[in-house]
Amino acid sequence: MRVAFVASEAFPLAKVGGLADVVGSLPQALRRLGVEPTVFLPWYWGIEAYYVGEVGFRFAGKEERAGIGHAEHRGVRYVLLGLGDFARDRVYGYPDDFRRFVRFALAVAELLRDFEVVHAHDWQAALLPLLRNLGWFSGRTVYTIHNLAYQGVWNPEEFYAWTGLPGETYYGAGLEHHGSVNLMKAGIVNADAVTTVSPRYAWEITTPEGGEGLDGVLRAHQGKLRGILNGLDTEYWNPATDPYLPFNYDANNLLGKTRNKSALKAELGLEDRPTLGVVSRFVYQKGIDLIAQAVEGLLDLGVNLVVLGSGEAELEHTFSRLSAQHRGRLAYVQGYHEALAHRIYAGADAFLMPSRFEPCGLAQLIAMRYGTPPIVRAVGGLLDTVRHWETGFMFETADAGGILHGVREFLKHPDLEAVARSAMRQDFSWENPARAYQHLYQRLLGQPA
Ligand code: ADP
Ligand code: GLC
Repeated sequence: MRVAFVASEAFPLAKVGGLADVVGSLPQALRRLGVEPTVFLPWYWGIEAYYVGEVGFRFAGKEERAGIGHAEHRGVRYVLLGLGDFARDRVYGYPDDFRRFVRFALAVAELLRDFEVVHAHDWQAALLPLLRNLGWFSGRTVYTIHNLAYQGVWNPEEFYAWTGLPGETYYGAGLEHHGSVNLMKAGIVNADAVTTVSPRYAWEITTPEGGEGLDGVLRAHQGKLRGILNGLDTEYWNPATDPYLPFNYDANNLLGKTRNKSALKAELGLEDRPTLGVVSRFVYQKGIDLIAQAVEGLLDLGVNLVVLGSGEAELEHTFSRLSAQHRGRLAYVQGYHEALAHRIYAGADAFLMPSRFEPCGLAQLIAMRYGTPPIVRAVGGLLDTVRHWETGFMFETADAGGILHGVREFLKHPDLEAVARSAMRQDFSWENPARAYQHLYQRLLGQPA
């Protein structure tokens, strides 16, 4: 079975957050089950691939050509689309993001004829199920929502001028939402199946509180919506072999973990106190502002804080200021740092994740795999993956009080080593979720599972 994955990120080629982890590892797991996946990505600046030719597509009434690159990572085939607008140093955050990803989708659509299933991820690929329904290619379509907060919204005038799609698709094919084009909505309406990344989030997004304005649409299509929990690349995220760690360890021997804790404190100049780790994009979703509000209270409880992340400038400034103010107790490192992230997962005593909403969350899974109990808000995928007092700690309210409550629970647990061990002994692999995706593909193709 040939399956095309279409997305904006895949680790290690291009990563901003968890989407890259999923698109970089689920295809490998599917391959082990006999599925033949190919991943389509924009050819971002710096990705090494073999130039194999060009594909023509129409954009804004003109014939355009995109370069095609081929690459392979851990047995998975990648096809990179060379569209000038992607040769920039970041993945997103440009004023023309919508236009860039529409061009990407239009170009990719020209390469999908040989695939039985097209699996599109998030708004950047959400146009594809609609293009299939217009007869551009013929595979079954799966649309996965990794984050309903980013929907790909634009004005219809430019959208139709760029794509040349028939005007009746605006109302007739689900593109219109509150007077704008909404690609997320079109993905949901037109795909054969819609999945999201945890069962709890699959339910939350059908409610007005969690639906980001699309709950009505999701309720109308609930029959084809389901939550499949993400897995982890457990070979890559493995404390027993992780080359980024000063000391390797496993659930049977946590001595290495203790040494990583000391090493992390020494590296960041922190006092000898329990250390809470944070590795995150700095956005509203993650409740980073709530951590800032809780800082004084946290330090009063006798813990250190290590924060790695970047995003909204105001939050970056706040943490730079806080770390200058609380030297020795609060360390903030701005930016994206793969190696340091690993050392924090391994070297923190607990991992803090006070998300306002969380479709799945991989950071808490990684923390558990590294024996670092996550302290999380009871929401979305966090609720589906953390067991309070057994594998981590949970709190209810999205505010400083909630965070402090969660940390107090952590501090009063009598046997944190048992928590670390239970956390580490769980199965976070892709094996079961990959099978769930395979069965879904088979069902859509009318094949016996
Ligand atoms: P999201 O996708 O919403 O950002 P997830 O928890 O699903 O949240 O995934 C986040 C991924 O990005 C994890 O692999 C995490 O380690 C990684 N990550 C986030 N911020 C950083 C950073 N500043 N440096 C390194 N890795 C990061
Ligand atoms: C999104 C979500 C995160 C999820 C990731 C991978 O970035 O915010 O919760 O884990 O996608 O599915």
